[in-house]
Amino acid sequence: MNIENKVCIITGAARGIGAGIAKVYVQNGAKVAVADLNLDTAKATADELTAMGPGEAMPIAMDVTNEAQVNDGVDAVLKAWGRIDVLVSNAGIQIIHPIEKFPFSDWKKLLAIHLDGAFLTTKAVIPHMYERGSGSIIYMGSVHSLEASPLKSAYVTAKHGLLGLARVVSKEGASHGVRANVICPGFVKTPLVEKQIPEQAADLHIPEKEVVERIMLGETVDKKFTTIDDVAEVALLFAGFPTNALTGQALVVSHGWHMD
Ligand SMILES: NC(=O)c1ccc[n+]([C@@H]2O[C@H](COP(=O)([O-])OP(=O)(O)OC[C@H]3O[C@@H](n4cnc5c(N)ncnc54)[C@H](O)[C@@H]3O)[C@@H](O)[C@H]2O)c1
Repeated sequence: MNIENKVCIITGAARGIGAGIAKVYVQNGAKVAVADLNLDTAKATADELTAMGPGEAMPIAMDVTNEAQVNDGVDAVLKAWGRIDVLVSNAGIQIIHPIEKFPFSDWKKLLAIHLDGAFLTTKAVIPHMYERGSGSIIYMGSVHSLEASPLKSAYVTAKHGLLGLARVVSKEGASHGVRANVICPGFVKTPLVEKQIPEQAADLHIPEKEVVERIMLGETVDKKFTTIDDVAEVALLFAGFPTNALTGQALVVSHGWHMD
């Protein structure tokens, strides 16, 4: 897929899956805004990517739940590079509790990052995509956009919600050449997942080994974690695909955990 010189904003890109997508985009010659909560960590990632080339990266401090910060971040990218071709709405967190013990504040915090963040970033970039008559918006869903697991009421609700948003954006954006798709990864070993292993072991009263082998990888075809590179390759496909033939889709990358 050709994304050379395309201007891409990736949220939550200082580390984990977002940083992996940023790396593959820069390797393919794109200009990437690494948007994350903390400017210093975003800058460290962006500097590393620019040094690697052939594309380049710039850091943006952005809390995706804050409308002013989202709009300011998008303005900064437009000022630097004059256009926006690709948005990867990737920032996310995980909080697990049985529903009867789920603090309402945690529920609201998780939904805000996943759903308000996807909405606000989409709303901020889409007029600029419409102006140019093209764009690709990619939401980071999960197998939990299509399946449910115990303890994850907020996360599963949020990830299912992103499918709805992507479908609406794909219908509204079609006549403007703007596509919207969802990537649905299985478990990828990032800090978000590392943190859950002891938490799930405690909540489910089982050993950590069983959390990994049964809960996380039990339904895969080969008992393997999905990798950041696997997800980044799909993000490259969605970013570079040239027509509305590929829009409104959810692509599952999960070693067969979920099969459509
Ligand atoms: N790791 C997995 O197994 C997995 C599987 C499926 C989907 N996902 C999704 O992939 C995305 C990235 O997850 P990850 O595993 O790389 O997590 P991670 O914790 O490694 O990275 C998440 C990044 O998002 C940033 N972030 C958090 N809140 C933010 C906010 N309000 N504004 C801006 N940035 C914010 C963090 O600072 C961090 O850099 C998430 O949406 C997650 O739900 C992850």
